[in-house]
Amino acid sequence: MLPVELYRGDESLRNDRTAVLRRTWQFLGHETQLPAAGDYLADVVGGAPVVVVRKADGELAAFHNVCRHRAGALVADGTGNCGEAFTCRYHGWRYALDGRLRNAVDFGASAGFDPRQYGLFPIRVEAWRGLLFVNLELSAEALASLMAPLAARWAEGQAAFPLVETRTHRIGCNWKTYVENYLEGYHLPMVHPEFDQDIVVADYRTEIEGDVVFAAAPPRDRSVYGGLWGWLWPNLGINVYRHGYMMERMTAVGPAETRLDYFYFFDPARTAELSQMLAVSDLVTAQDLQVCEEVQRNLEAGVYRGGVLSPKHETGVAWFQERIATAHDLPRPPKLAAVS
Ligand code: FES
Ligand SMILES: [Fe+2]
Repeated sequence: MLPVELYRGDESLRNDRTAVLRRTWQFLGHETQLPAAGDYLADVVGGAPVVVVRKADGELAAFHNVCRHRAGALVADGTGNCGEAFTCRYHGWRYALDGRLRNAVDFGASAGFDPRQYGLFPIRVEAWRGLLFVNLELSAEALASLMAPLAARWAEGQAAFPLVETRTHRIGCNWKTYVENYLEGYHLPMVHPEFDQDIVVADYRTEIEGDVVFAAAPPRDRSVYGGLWGWLWPNLGINVYRHGYMMERMTAVGPAETRLDYFYFFDPARTAELSQMLAVSDLVTAQDLQVCEEVQRNLEAGVYRGGVLSPKHETGVAWFQERIATAHDLPRPPKLAAVS
């Protein structure tokens, strides 16, 4: 297990943002949310506001959503159209959609001020099967290498389903507490007893390939699930349904607060299956929320110093903890903690 201190306190969140969340591909949304030139999508990644924009040539560009004058925001979070240029919301500096400062509006004569030195801070943006990701680390490996194991297992046609619904949930736990819960099926019989009607829980298996953890279980006849779950390092789930799929982004908003953003892509003709799937999804989330908040309360209480991981069910959790330890230059966590 990891040191309990990694699951609580402001310092742990700061360190996770620096060492993990700002150096990895972070899911932002879907290309179809930005169809026209000037369309943008702004969000916060690893605590850093970012914006993706469609340029006039049809390509995407992405920047930190921060003005070089006095750190104003270029656009509000969410989607919109900024026309041919970003106009800072604070004093109105204008930036071309490729990031160059075009006009420091009414700034006044200033010797030595060179607008070419004040372009927006770029970040990486790439799309995979229409799914948009950004990375604050400019030298990051291409998104395609992260997605390669998923590409091999997930039918390409599945990605054609349109985005039909988004939902947000807040959970009072550290993001890693939630991720670890997502990475094991050990809790299914206790926490989600209904699951066994949908999938054969006894045959639930976890496999790790590259930076992707897969879970698979045979679906039963009337299951809403397609029997495949994927999870991409460090904080993105993908649930495959019979008639669609869902991207589940797990955002650390505080040391003990995680926001889950669910993006549902589904066959719009299947309205009955869609509402059945949403009802199952809401129920599962409420059940996970309860256990994760109870775990977090105990991680904060101090008596628990570390436990043991099941070699049969918790290989995904062990893998995740090793990755976190490596990112923080900590020794690899022992899988069996000494009990003193
Ligand atoms: S902070 Fe953007 S124009 Fe002043
Ligand atoms: Fe669960």
